[in-house]
Amino acid sequence: MKALILAGGSGTRLRPFSHTMAKQLVPVANRPVLRHVLDAVRQAGITKVGIIVGTRGDEIRNAIGDGSAQGLDITFIPQAVPLGLAHCVMIAKDFLGDESFLMYLGDNIIREPLSGFVDAFRDSGADAQILLSQVPDPRQYGVAEVDAHGRITALVEKPSEPRSDLAVVGLYLFGPAIHTAVRSIAPSARGELEITDAVQWLLDSGHTVLSHRLRGYWKDTGRVEDVLECNRVFLEDLEPAVLGKVDDQSETVGRVLVEEGAVVHASRLVGPLIVGAGSTVTRSLVGPYTSIGSDCRVEDASIGYSILMERVTVDGVRNLHGSLIGRDSVITPPSPACGTNQVVIGDHSRLQICQH
Ligand code: DAU
Repeated sequence: MKALILAGGSGTRLRPFSHTMAKQLVPVANRPVLRHVLDAVRQAGITKVGIIVGTRGDEIRNAIGDGSAQGLDITFIPQAVPLGLAHCVMIAKDFLGDESFLMYLGDNIIREPLSGFVDAFRDSGADAQILLSQVPDPRQYGVAEVDAHGRITALVEKPSEPRSDLAVVGLYLFGPAIHTAVRSIAPSARGELEITDAVQWLLDSGHTVLSHRLRGYWKDTGRVEDVLECNRVFLEDLEPAVLGKVDDQSETVGRVLVEEGAVVHASRLVGPLIVGAGSTVTRSLVGPYTSIGSDCRVEDASIGYSILMERVTVDGVRNLHGSLIGRDSVITPPSPACGTNQVVIGDHSRLQICQH
């Protein structure tokens, strides 16, 4: 079985980050979301992987490589315009051939092994199997209606009035009939070829579509809040270790990983927390639920429940909380004389400034 991972698209909900990076490369516990996805695929025993990439294809290729180090054989499949998830299946036809495949949205994170789900499909002979999860507000997802026997009867993409609370998780298994389905549907109101419409086509034309209820953790990392939440969950399982240097004046509490080359001086580190390779933390309070990327500088600061990407500087700033800070950003207080706040921020940024 092959896997098709979707890492194109525009990522408007993850602005401003998606202005400058592929949303699938946003780090969770200091690893790009897409790396977590590839780990899950590898664990399920799948090695031949196609990755759909859009305008940020080169960045994704550079970050992921050819996969050989992870025992993967990766083929990148360019998508010039993000015309929808079903369009991705269409352009991957040559790569997929007539084999069954796992389709995995490159911004979704699932915390349970995929093998049960994959093996059940292999044994079933069904044409498709989708994964469903009960959510409080399903309006931002594909939504499934299921009969008393657990069989899917209808699927609707992002309905304003959902008829169930079962969201479609971004992980699908398909047999070759999906190739006919994606060629048989028309673009939706938002102009995309929707995979939900293709699965609905399979249902309408009498194909077997199974569903599997996911009980474990799942997150679509499409929004900043979701990325922070996901980071929290991944850090819970962190393997603590001090590979860098933590001096005698510092204290670590709970699960703390200090990566190689990181230096911590006169600080309190409260886990779960990662201090990335080559970073320095000085006279600061950091954690819990915080990932400091590589080569950051944190000085005279306090930070919790946050992600700092690579090469961020936070100097002299207290009570930074719930923050996602992009690469090479610098956060410092204003000089005492000026009495004003100065910001230099890109498009679609969000800043909450405490006035006290
Ligand atoms: O997260 C689960 C949801 O994912 C499902 O409930 C929905 O049924 C499904 O349509 C999808 O909805 P989203 O609006 O979240 O999809 P998004 O546009 O974020 O795209 C999902 C992934 O696929 C993302 O990594 C980008 C990639 N993509 C997307 C499009 C539209 C492509 O590679 N090419 C595309 O043309």
